[in-house]
Amino acid sequence: MSIKERLSDQMELPPETEQPNVYPLSWRRQTAKMEEIWAASLSQAWDPAKLPWDSFDPDSFSWEERESIAYWWTLLSVFDASAPPVFAAALIKCYEDHEEDPVRRCFFSVTRDEQNHEQMCGLAITRLLDHPDPLTYAPKTEIGKRLQKNAKWLYFNGGRYWEGYKRAVPKYDLAILFSSFLMGEIAAATIFHQMAAGTEIPVFKEGFRNIGRDEGRHMAICMSLMERDYPKLDLEDRAVITKQIRAGYLFLSAVLFEPPMEFWDLPEDFIPAQREAEAICRQAGFAVPEYEAKKENWRKAILNMKAVLDKYGIPFPAIPEVGITGEEITDVEMEDIIPVF
Ligand SMILES: [Fe+2]
Ligand SMILES: [Fe+2]
Repeated sequence: MSIKERLSDQMELPPETEQPNVYPLSWRRQTAKMEEIWAASLSQAWDPAKLPWDSFDPDSFSWEERESIAYWWTLLSVFDASAPPVFAAALIKCYEDHEEDPVRRCFFSVTRDEQNHEQMCGLAITRLLDHPDPLTYAPKTEIGKRLQKNAKWLYFNGGRYWEGYKRAVPKYDLAILFSSFLMGEIAAATIFHQMAAGTEIPVFKEGFRNIGRDEGRHMAICMSLMERDYPKLDLEDRAVITKQIRAGYLFLSAVLFEPPMEFWDLPEDFIPAQREAEAICRQAGFAVPEYEAKKENWRKAILNMKAVLDKYGIPFPAIPEVGITGEEITDVEMEDIIPVF
């Protein structure tokens, strides 16, 4: 490297570093709650590869069951396999914004956790299908063929949001990004606790318990950031948050409830195939909730979210699909999506 102009020959101290630069040289600690969550992320650390996989014999399930359970993990992967890069981008933003030290560590822990969740999906799918990739796998049954078509459509839809997300990250304050994340975290904590309670297959039950606990911490991270930042939020930001909550509902419904067709570009036979697979999963002891149970749980998660936003006077969007009234939001596109899982 050659230096064009040697400033160190001309001045005693270097010029100010232009801001924002990527790294803070400071370790401010303000939010005590974040310290607790970080400590919990270390003491609760787990490794998906060390779950009791020995107790799991894929051959004790029929191919219909294997393909149906693998489909559920594939559906989850559409959300969880994008989570590591999504949170890695948020982690970089924490450094650029010179966020306080415990906030940087907490976002680092979320990135690590989401990588674990992605690993868990991969380990499950690989064992169930005896193949490491649900899109190139050769289905063995009729339902398996229909589910692979579903998986291809899900993958296509999920892939559309990355460019929009990359544009959103520099544009919005962390405070706005957090509200979108929170929607995903509340939803995720809900579904994994449900699945852990009902699933009879030990390795999956334990996996769900661990993932649910991770998601609970992620939720706590978002909540404490909101507590710190929301009292000083701009009016304009409030409107963005309202829209993001509606976007979160539309996006996350695909895994927590059923994909809204005005938003997800999916063929007509998508939902019938998915419902059939879920019934097969339940019979095999893999507890995907029934339609009404999903709807009720999703509704409860959204009402929790509403209670948080009400505290800060942020208008809530109407979500008539689960019986929640509020502000009408109609113009949500895939590229407006910030929520993650
Ligand atoms: Fe996750
Ligand atoms: Fe999460």
